[in-house]
Amino acid sequence: MSIANELQQTISDLVDEHRGILAADESKPTITKRLAAIGVEATEQNRRDYRSLLISTPGLGKYISGIIMFEETLGQTDENQVLLPEVTWSKKIVPGVKVDRGKGPLAGAPGDLVTYGLDGLASRLKGYKNQGARFAKWREVYPITHHNPTHMGRHANAEVLARYAAVCQEMGFVPIVEPEVLMDGDHDIDRCATVTEYVLHSVFHALHLHGVHLEHIILKPNMILPGKNCRTAEPQEIAEATLKILKRTVPAAVPSINFLSGGQEPEEATGNLNAINQMKANAPWQLSISYGRALQQPALYAWQGKAENRTKAQKALLKRARLNSLARQGKYHPAMENEEN
Ligand code: 13P
Repeated sequence: MSIANELQQTISDLVDEHRGILAADESKPTITKRLAAIGVEATEQNRRDYRSLLISTPGLGKYISGIIMFEETLGQTDENQVLLPEVTWSKKIVPGVKVDRGKGPLAGAPGDLVTYGLDGLASRLKGYKNQGARFAKWREVYPITHHNPTHMGRHANAEVLARYAAVCQEMGFVPIVEPEVLMDGDHDIDRCATVTEYVLHSVFHALHLHGVHLEHIILKPNMILPGKNCRTAEPQEIAEATLKILKRTVPAAVPSINFLSGGQEPEEATGNLNAINQMKANAPWQLSISYGRALQQPALYAWQGKAENRTKAQKALLKRARLNSLARQGKYHPAMENEEN
């Protein structure tokens, strides 16, 4: 198969009108933090048990089209000794992999961050492909302060995202391009809108310069939200602001926009996605999810690290996946949270 056909096939397998992507790719420090919250030590075995539980959820393929894994997960097996990427694809869920190597300070731009991992990326991708991964994820992070992100910071982050995306496409991987403007802070929703517009503009400019085919990427942005320490906003206000900024900056060639949840509560993230889809009118892209915390949190708490809670945890994941599938079609109502199925 040609590379273009391979990329198109992956897009077709990932993008439809009712499913979304599960992000289960927490780095070691992050998964350690998540497991610590339920009093579970982040041993290799516990990380495997937890992620195997998520991936093996019966019926998950009805609502989820892709799972982003941490590289360790690609080589782990379920309780029947079947490799987890194989378990994933047996449900018609495409296995993907986070390929960035975390973030740190950006020299010359105090307060801005930049993500590492471009060196050797092509050869790592070759290995991940042999393990069954077909798409990749890379996250750049933009904190908001009164002087961040800087012009230089935006430019540097966009360049890195574009270089990552170009390497992925050359290697036959669909890149998830994730520029995350953080929710932390006391800024209002307008400030988030202004910053995100600048960020997305610079990202698409860089993708163009680097020859990235927009038909074969997935954009994973933040919603336009007020800072965590600011007043809250109604889903309609969030949807309106989010659609406005996306329409200004994201070309119609992009097949799908899959939001991150970024610290929103699970029900909040579902409600906001629903409002966005109810308001989308003639927006040219699919508007779906690539949630981590907002899909996993109830499952993690239901599990508590105990084998006997496995089914309960899987039910909790399936519920969030199902409600987000409805929200992604604009058919969710908060009252559904209290229904049995
Ligand atoms: P959250 O939905 O928890 O923000 O995670 C999404 C993700 O993959 C961040 O890179």
